[in-house]
Amino acid sequence: MQTQQHPARDDPAHGFTVAAVCRLLARAAVAAVHAPSVLNTQPWRWRIEHDTALLYADRDRGLPTIDPDGRLLTLSCGAALHHACVTLAAEGADFAVEPLPTGHGPDAIAVVHYRGPALPPPLAQPLANAIMARRSDRRPFAARPVPDEALNPLRSAAERCGAHLQVAWARDLGDMAEAAAQAAQAALTDPAYRAELATWLRRPGEGHDGVPTDTLSTAGQRKVPLRDFTATGYPGGLHSTNDLDDRHARYGIIVTDGDGPGDWLTAGVALSAVLLTATAERLATSTMSDLVEHGTARHTVRRILGGVGYPAIGVRIGVPADDTLPARAPRRPAAEVIEVVADPLSVVPAPDAT
Ligand SMILES: Cc1cc2nc3c(=O)[nH]c(=O)nc-3n(C[C@H](O)[C@H](O)[C@H](O)COP(=O)(O)O)c2cc1C
Repeated sequence: MQTQQHPARDDPAHGFTVAAVCRLLARAAVAAVHAPSVLNTQPWRWRIEHDTALLYADRDRGLPTIDPDGRLLTLSCGAALHHACVTLAAEGADFAVEPLPTGHGPDAIAVVHYRGPALPPPLAQPLANAIMARRSDRRPFAARPVPDEALNPLRSAAERCGAHLQVAWARDLGDMAEAAAQAAQAALTDPAYRAELATWLRRPGEGHDGVPTDTLSTAGQRKVPLRDFTATGYPGGLHSTNDLDDRHARYGIIVTDGDGPGDWLTAGVALSAVLLTATAERLATSTMSDLVEHGTARHTVRRILGGVGYPAIGVRIGVPADDTLPARAPRRPAAEVIEVVADPLSVVPAPDAT
């Protein structure tokens, strides 16, 4: 009979060395570097210590004008947390997550406690594979509708994380477009907002963070326009003149029951779950937070929800136009965001060895 080797199992009889557990948690944190984040700010830090991984918000990477409450920063950290958890699950780890833990300072977002080996749940590997395949695709989608049933796994993914994915009906698109127009107007008329946006715009190949211009798209007509980066003075990215561009795009809203930091974290976890599930289902996505950044626009989006729940973020979903991948946004080197603190000689007892 073949026995399944757990990757963290250094000493099958007595437990797991801390070094092995640290390596496992570090691999999860490295995968989390690829999570999406608002304007690719990557506002997170990891500290791996013994059998725990602590996720901190890096508030120096916050957006004081666009995101004064740190809602989108917390959402971004939630996405990173989910990427790490998917990786751990796919590697066959059992773990517990403590959100917004006390006793670790005001920036602590979550502690992940390693508990021992487990059989990977069936969905873990496809989601883990999707981490490197996923990219924000702002290009027009194919002229092919997204089958309604293809959206069900995305809805379930959000529900499993404690949030909801409400997919806008055709009748809601007027409100979505109005919210996008309100967001664009707010950006255009606020010099501080435009300046902050410009700070995070990058030339292709420049730096390890921010939004490279070759990942943007200014495709012709859209039912719901994307965030207007041209408000920064940037002339525009990939062009298309087709009036019917993107007519089959669907628009989802991640909705939470409350509107505090814990709900924002839940929304970020759910956002990652929805994006990775969509990628695994061969759907393309891009994220839209401009719809909910400004009070007026967010209020308009909330109308679509009938006033029930809080819109956390928008997701544009569609069938990719072709097999080419959009340009990749860069990431900070893992060593810059991950600190490993471990005594490699100590041993964490395996749960079944005590
Ligand atoms: C909280 C959050 C808000 C975002 N808001 C927008 C947005 O309004 N417009 C947009 O085009 N992309 C948005 N994005 C996508 C990021 O710009 C993108 O994740 C980042 O540039 C990294 O690129 P990648 O998704 O291709 O890895 C958002 C992502 C997150 C997590």
